[in-house]
Amino acid sequence: MKISFELNGELKYLEVDPGERLAALLRRLGMKSIKEGCGTGDCGACTVLVDGRAVRSCLMVAPQVQGRRVMTVEGLGTLDDPHPLQRAFLDSGAVQCGFCTPGMILVAHELLTRNSSPTPDQVREAISGNLCRCTGYVKIVDAVLLAARWKREGKWR
Ligand code: FES
Ligand code: FES
Repeated sequence: MKISFELNGELKYLEVDPGERLAALLRRLGMKSIKEGCGTGDCGACTVLVDGRAVRSCLMVAPQVQGRRVMTVEGLGTLDDPHPLQRAFLDSGAVQCGFCTPGMILVAHELLTRNSSPTPDQVREAISGNLCRCTGYVKIVDAVLLAARWKREGKWR
């Protein structure tokens, strides 16, 4: 079947298998930030934004994004021009192996879009479904709070 959807601001119109999982489709389209950690909705490493909401792409099939807006971290920033959230993760030392990082950044993006003054507990709650094996979470929470401060200071684009 054919579906159309927006991926990082670009319209896609392509043939998919109705049972193809969104995570697999996005990787097929070159979105290597999508990590399949568990494949069962438990780790958050495959998180993407669909119409601004953080979802687990391993739990969706491709036809579910028909007509919707999908964003991955590739749509947020680049190595040369990182988004402030990405910069905050780097500056805070919140990235080690990086496997969890795209999902963490996207759930943080959803949170800060709704609330640019979150408490540390609200950040912890927002990232609670995303597992990190490396950082111990403290620096990730610091990074989200730093990005929130930058947002309040008008430093987000
Ligand atoms: S791979 Fe989707 S939640 Fe773990
Ligand atoms: S930085 Fe390695 S899993 Fe989070």
